[in-house]
This record gives sequence, structure tokens and C-alpha cells, in this order.
Amino acid sequence: MTRWTVLSAASVAAVLAATALVPVVSAGDGDNSLLERARAVFQPLPKDAATTAYPLTADRVELGRALFFESRVSTDGKQSCANCHQPMFYGTDALATSVGNQGRALPRNVPTVFNTALQFVQHYGGNRVDVEEQAVKALMSPLAYGNADLAAAETRLRAIPGYRDMFVKAFPGEAEPVTARNWGVAIGAYERTLITPAPFDHFLEGDASALSPQAKRGLDKFMAVGCSGCHSGATVGGQMYQKFGLTRDYWLATGSTEKDLLKGRDKGRFHDTKNEADAFIFKVQQLRNVAVTPPYFHDGSVATLSEAVRVMASLQLGRDDLSDADVADIVAFLESLTGAVPANFAAVPSLPPAPYRN
Ligand code: HEC
Ligand code: HEC
Repeated sequence: MTRWTVLSAASVAAVLAATALVPVVSAGDGDNSLLERARAVFQPLPKDAATTAYPLTADRVELGRALFFESRVSTDGKQSCANCHQPMFYGTDALATSVGNQGRALPRNVPTVFNTALQFVQHYGGNRVDVEEQAVKALMSPLAYGNADLAAAETRLRAIPGYRDMFVKAFPGEAEPVTARNWGVAIGAYERTLITPAPFDHFLEGDASALSPQAKRGLDKFMAVGCSGCHSGATVGGQMYQKFGLTRDYWLATGSTEKDLLKGRDKGRFHDTKNEADAFIFKVQQLRNVAVTPPYFHDGSVATLSEAVRVMASLQLGRDDLSDADVADIVAFLESLTGAVPANFAAVPSLPPAPYRN
């Protein structure tokens, strides 16, 4: 039975109130009206995610690209960003939950690094303010790079002589540029270039033929059902927190067994804030490239996109009445969010040699 959960967020109340009784029908009002309504909710991707605080220079991006693929700064010599955010899987590892340092299990599914710099915070619980902080903190995570502290990571980094020149060029004028902080700024600069424009962007820019008729119906339904109340903006998500399991408990709906429950539930943002009000609050995940980055949700519990759409409709909007055609249309729209793998990510760089150290 549906269990209604009250959440203070006014936006969700508005989403539910506005959509509870709306049948899933295509408005059938032509391309111009659909485009106008879509433009009120979504924006095309920018060409990069540079900001005044984090400007991009070619030297910084080149260094960041090398460091992204660098595994020798980890304690087991195997962890690099690319170990879990892989070029052949659209910046994910295609596992339900990831495996890290010394084969240790990570608790969550790997999201893509494409377009991620445009999200309002990083990680499912939002405990990293931006991609720069995310890259620095990974150095000390026992599950990722495993360094005891940042100084240990810097020692490993400085032991690879070829990087010094690259850091000097990327951070001119600094007395000691080879630092953990600059590691974060350089990797962040690289991530800020990993933007993947897709057919949906061409549509938003005015090319009505960029979407198939089915994808257009899906876009219409995505907005009519209320998905876009949470998944909006240039990244179609990644702009706010919401409860996962708003109208029905998430664990009951995904067919989890008692054994799963005993493993302990991931309470999302609660783990970072320790505030009960944050229990089961997650960042609304961005949906760019979602069709090519299964499995789905923070625990990778859902295998296919059509199932993920059904789970969302049921748990976030109380809608268990979507037809197979509705779901197929929404999936066709989500497929229009798939862009090309950026050329500077598809090809793997050669890294500077260094004397072997364990
Ligand atoms: C051992 C696997 C592993 C390694 C190594 C790793 N990551 Fe991740 N990454 C993950 C997982 C799992 C998550 C989800 C964590 C969460 O949300 O709590 C994640 C999340 C992220 C996010 C946030 C994405 C989002 O949608 O919120 C970014 C950005 C990111 N990683 C970049 C990097 C960078 C840059 C490096 C290298 C410095 C790196 N990762 C190394 C597994 C890994
Ligand atoms: C009330 C807010 C809200 C609404 C409405 C909503 N979502 Fe979500 N969506 C979320 C949150 C939060 C997550 C992250 C859940 C998690 O992984 O723990 C998410 C995740 C997803 C994912 C998985 C992304 C991934 O990479 O794992 C898909 C797909 C998705 N939503 C599609 C939809 C569709 C389609 C609709 C409409 C039927 C919809 N959502 C409605 C909040 C919402």
C-alpha cells in the first residue's frame, strides 16, 4: 500500500499536487509549444564548466588529464580516477557497487564524471562541494587512494619527476606547485572540460528534427508526469536534494529481501550530517548519459532504464499507472541525453616514467 511521507520541501509538494491527477498524454500541441515548455525547464549544456574561481588553461587541463589516469599516488598502486570512472563505460565502472583499494567494496554505485562539474554538489549525499574538493579528498579515502594524509600523497606525487614541469606550467609563479591542492584544481579543470552535448541540446537550440517523434512524446511525458520537477536544468538533475522514496518506501518497492535490509540501509545525506531530517535524502542525480550508464540508483540495484523509470514514477510521484508505451517514450527521451565520449577522455594519455616504489 502507498505510504505517504511528508517532506517539507515545498517544491515536492508542488510537484505532487500539480501532477497527481494528470493523465499521461502527449499534449499534441506541436513542436513550438513543446520547445517553449522545455526551454522553461532545461538549458543546453555550456561548452565547458569553467568558473571565475576555476578558470581553464590548456596546461592545467593537460596535467589534470594525466593525473586522472595516474595510479601511482595510491597505496596499492592500482587506484586512479579512471580505475572506477572508465573511458569504455562512459566514465563509470559498470558495476552495481564499486571495488577499490586492496579489493575493498565501496558502498555505492559509480556515477559518471561527464558533466558532473555542473551539478550543485558532488556525491549522492552532497558531502563534496565541488569536483576540486572531491579529487583532493579521494587521496585520503581508505577505499580509494588510501593515503594516511595529504603529505603522504604529495610524497608519492613528487616521486614521479616528470610531473614537476607540468605543475610549474599549470600553476606559474608558485614556489611549490606540486601539492594536493593543485592536484585537485588540475583534475577539476580536466573534469570541467568533460561536457557531452547530445541531440536534446540541438533540440533546445531550435532544431526540431534533432529528436525522434517518440523522444518528443517522451519529453512531453517527462514534464507532464512531474519528473522535471526534480530533474531539471542543463544536467537534467543535479540541482537539488530530495528524499528517495517520497510516496512509497524505496526498499519495499525494489523487491529487496530481508537479507538486503540486514546489510543496513544507505540513509543518504544523513551519513554526512547525522541529522534525522536528512535520512534517505539524496542528490537528485543528473540524467545526462543515463541510458549508457546502468545499473541505476546509489546502490546500483536496478538493472535497466525502463525499470528505473517505473521505480521513479512509483516512489517519487505515486504513479503506478504508466503504460509500457509511456515508459518506452520516456526512455527514448532519456536516450536523447547521450552525447559522444569527449576525445580527451576516449584516448588514454602516456604518463611520465618514475623509479618503481611500492
Ligand atoms: C575505487 C573507485 C573510485 C575511485 C578510485 C574514484 N572514484 Fe569517483 N566515485 C566513486 C564512487 C563509488 C562514487 C559515488 C560516491 C558517493 O556518491 O558517495 C564516486 C563519485 C565521484 C564523483 C561525484 C559524481 C556525482 O554525480 O556526484 C566525482 C566527481 C568523482 N567520483 C570523481 C573522481 C575523481 C576525480 C577521482 C580521482 C581523483 C575518483 N573519482 C576516484 C568511485 C571511485
Ligand atoms: C521528488 C524528486 C524526483 C522526481 C519527481 C523524480 N526523480 Fe528521478 N531521482 C531523484 C533522486 C533523489 C534520485 C537519486 C536516487 C538514488 O540514486 O538514490 C533520482 C534518480 C533517478 C534515476 C537514476 C539515475 C542514475 O544514474 O542512477 C533515473 C533514471 C531517474 N531518476 C528518472 C526519473 C524519471 C523518469 C522520473 C519521472 C517518472 C523521475 N526520475 C522523477 C528524484 C526524483
